[in-house]
Amino acid sequence: MQNDIAEILVTEEEIQTRVAELGRRISIDYRDKVAGDPPQSLLLVGLLRGAIVFLSDLMRAIDIPVQLDFIGISSYGSGTESGAVRLVMDLETDIAARHVVIVEDIVDTGKTLSYLVGNLEARNPASLRICALLDKPDRRMVPIEVKYVGFEIPDKFVVGYGLDFAEGYRNLPFVGVLKEHLYKVVLM
Ligand code: IMP
Repeated sequence: MQNDIAEILVTEEEIQTRVAELGRRISIDYRDKVAGDPPQSLLLVGLLRGAIVFLSDLMRAIDIPVQLDFIGISSYGSGTESGAVRLVMDLETDIAARHVVIVEDIVDTGKTLSYLVGNLEARNPASLRICALLDKPDRRMVPIEVKYVGFEIPDKFVVGYGLDFAEGYRNLPFVGVLKEHLYKVVLM
């Protein structure tokens, strides 16, 4: 698996340091918001399946009460390009009047998150923000505000720490660039 990686972009140590910082910031930003009467917990909404590794580390770096839910979004299109998006698995939680943070692995064109924000805003949460481990700003097609970003990365196809290619490589502990011939072969 490691032989398929051309270059490590973000090491395991860099990820752990940044995740701890993001957790601290989120805890500070939401401490008062969730301490109201009655108190509520911050709802973390993870996008399946890429965000689960990030989410599991991030939630343990947050020291205010949190609750988890998951949502599944699928994009039509193949290989490394994302196309039109649709909901394939909905939340179980009613998010009306809740403080919600969407946790995502990577923002690329912005289409997935823009669709999701529209969908969730319609359910009237108290607030809705995005936390993404990675951001590829050069690829953005749809403007989207990402409040918490782990790392900005160049326009390269990356895998590891939850991110996949054809469902593989998610368990690599770092974020690495996949050797080009591996995904070019599949696309042809
Ligand atoms: P967007 O809708 O174009 O912003 O794409 C977001 C989704 O595309 C992410 O949730 C990932 O599943 C996938 N994606 C985008 N770039 C990469 C990458 O470099 N590696 C793995 N998946 C990616």
